[in-house]
Amino acid sequence: MADAKALGAFVLSGVGVRVPPSAPCGAAHLSPARQLLESAGRKDGGMGLSFELDPPLTDDLRAAIVALWVDVTNAGGAVGFVPPVTAGDIGPTADAALDAVAAGRDHLLVGIDGGRPVALLFVADNGHALKDHWRVLKRVMVAPDGQGRGYGAALMREAATVAEKMGLAGLQVTVRAGTGTEDFYARLGYREVGRVPRALRVAPGDDRDEIIMWRGLD
Ligand SMILES: CC(C)(COP(=O)(O)OP(=O)(O)OC[C@H]1O[C@@H](n2cnc3c(N)ncnc32)[C@H](O)[C@@H]1OP(=O)(O)O)[C@@H](O)C(=O)NCCC(=O)NCCS
Repeated sequence: MADAKALGAFVLSGVGVRVPPSAPCGAAHLSPARQLLESAGRKDGGMGLSFELDPPLTDDLRAAIVALWVDVTNAGGAVGFVPPVTAGDIGPTADAALDAVAAGRDHLLVGIDGGRPVALLFVADNGHALKDHWRVLKRVMVAPDGQGRGYGAALMREAATVAEKMGLAGLQVTVRAGTGTEDFYARLGYREVGRVPRALRVAPGDDRDEIIMWRGLD
């Protein structure tokens, strides 16, 4: 379970104003980039999950994201760490990822259910002039108590919608071999396009391939 204090504070402070795509005045105060990305706030098919793109990065939201990342890792999720971890372990990596969002380089897509963040991913810029037409989806995660309910698939569908609005040609994900997660992505239209052998040392004597998966966007 995520850190109750952090999530409680998050619920109290909320996540900012959601802008429905159809709101006639909503776009007026948004940057051109935000106008492109205004799928934020969309509800997904009746499952109680809604999405926020680049919500205000309050201290409460930052803490809730770290708590979610810790929970997912400690439940066995492959999001950059090996359990057991604490907020202190995840914090610096999370800060760097969120700072890139705050700087406008990357984007953060958060799935919210019952007022708390239950899913997230980062849409990461390649930082490369010749790779500006595609992005990498990183840290794809769903809260352990929300997994297996379609949230992950909904999150990925929303990310594809965001990417299409950005005019991107494709999306990449990288997967830790041995977790089975490549089947999750394959169901969503991603196919393996490469594999770096033994790229990930999850423990002494336990090296895993890193699988590169790609989905083109029409
Ligand atoms: C992987 C993850 C994001 C999937 O989210 P989820 O909400 O549990 O998945 P969904 O309920 O939307 O499942 C969608 C489909 O993918 C399948 N699926 C989900 N997780 C899977 C897995 N780990 N391996 C194989 N298939 C999986 C489901 O069975 C479902 O199939 P269906 O469409 O035939 O019913 C989630 O389990 C998670 O956060 N895992 C820990 C973090 C992690 O490892 N992230 C991957 C980083 S590369």
